[in-house]
Amino acid sequence: MVSLLLTGIGELTTHDPAHGGPLPDAALVVEAGRVAWTGSARSAPAADASSDLGGRAVVPGFVDSHSHLVFAGDRAEEFAARMTGASYSAGGIRTTVAATRAATDEQLAANLARLVAEMHRQGTTTVEVKSGYGLTVRDEARSLAIARQVTDETTFLGAHVVPPELADDPGAYVDLVTGPMLAACAPYARWVDVFCERGAFDADQARAVLAAGAARGLRGRMHANQLGPGPGVRLACELGLAAVDHCTYLSDDDVDALAASGTTATLLPGVEFSTRSPYPDARRLLDAGCYVALASDCNPGSCYTSSMPLCIALAVREMGMSPAEALHAATAGGARALGRDDVGHLRVGARADLAVLEAPSHLHLAYRPGVPLVRQTFVRGSEEHGPGTGLR
Ligand code: NIG
Ligand code: FE
Repeated sequence: MVSLLLTGIGELTTHDPAHGGPLPDAALVVEAGRVAWTGSARSAPAADASSDLGGRAVVPGFVDSHSHLVFAGDRAEEFAARMTGASYSAGGIRTTVAATRAATDEQLAANLARLVAEMHRQGTTTVEVKSGYGLTVRDEARSLAIARQVTDETTFLGAHVVPPELADDPGAYVDLVTGPMLAACAPYARWVDVFCERGAFDADQARAVLAAGAARGLRGRMHANQLGPGPGVRLACELGLAAVDHCTYLSDDDVDALAASGTTATLLPGVEFSTRSPYPDARRLLDAGCYVALASDCNPGSCYTSSMPLCIALAVREMGMSPAEALHAATAGGARALGRDDVGHLRVGARADLAVLEAPSHLHLAYRPGVPLVRQTFVRGSEEHGPGTGLR
């Protein structure tokens, strides 16, 4: 078994409570794709190969727990119109649905691969990918089969919006989603999701979709309270879902329900940036004892960024998070939102997924927004992005 010593780490963030914060002048040993040792560089054990990182910071790879990467086309014109005063509406999803239905499997897979590579270059090492731009049995199932080629964290989002051909009969569409579409999609999905929002699905419809998914062994997550207040967050908490995402408009009752249930509130600040909307109040959630994750929501409509560093910078600048809290939410928070304990941290035993920053500390992620700070990305101890580890 070949072991790799990464040494000369200027600052190592492991999220190990025993370390009481980031470790200065640190080293980390990888064995069989896992973290085998962390500590002071001075006391590092020998390994088969080693790489000196020259004082750069190392952080856990980002866990992007919310993305919509299976689609065709883009909606740059819609974005431009928003920037000159138009408002965001969930109806724009149908533009992407038409383009996605018209695309070949190869085109969808190539676009997905391009976006996943883009994420790796920015330090993301785990990504959840949703369907939701097919909205027919065939198009949802193929979207998930394609997503499964790049990640196990796949989510069935047939209940994204009601497609145009069933606009007059939303009940029939919910029957399709909970029946034949779910049956075709469940083999490729770990999660079931529903957009519970005015203009998409109401609480009863959301409940039906999540119950049908659960009966097929899919765990639930939800889009809710993005465009306005609503019942989604409280429903997610009542059902004990792993995560409820957006959480932009929250009442005190919503915050209390999140704190009591332990459902992770996943905040997606790229959406507020790209739709010019008010940001969610992360400080309020953290002060109330809620679990918070940050994710990109990368999609062609509400937010076409794949950059977790940008999300961290926005969360710090606009949402009241400290740089350490934002990094935690983008790593351990995302892992919790996906029910994972093997990623999102660098304690011994974790998957050796990490990002080497062209910076001396994690503070630079928010301090230097827009700068490509991720020099190398390792997944399971292998370099996915970077100039080569310089092994010797
Ligand atoms: O998470 N909220 C619903 N769905 C996506 C937007 C999709 C789109 O506009 O194409 C979201 O923001
Ligand atoms: Fe989304």
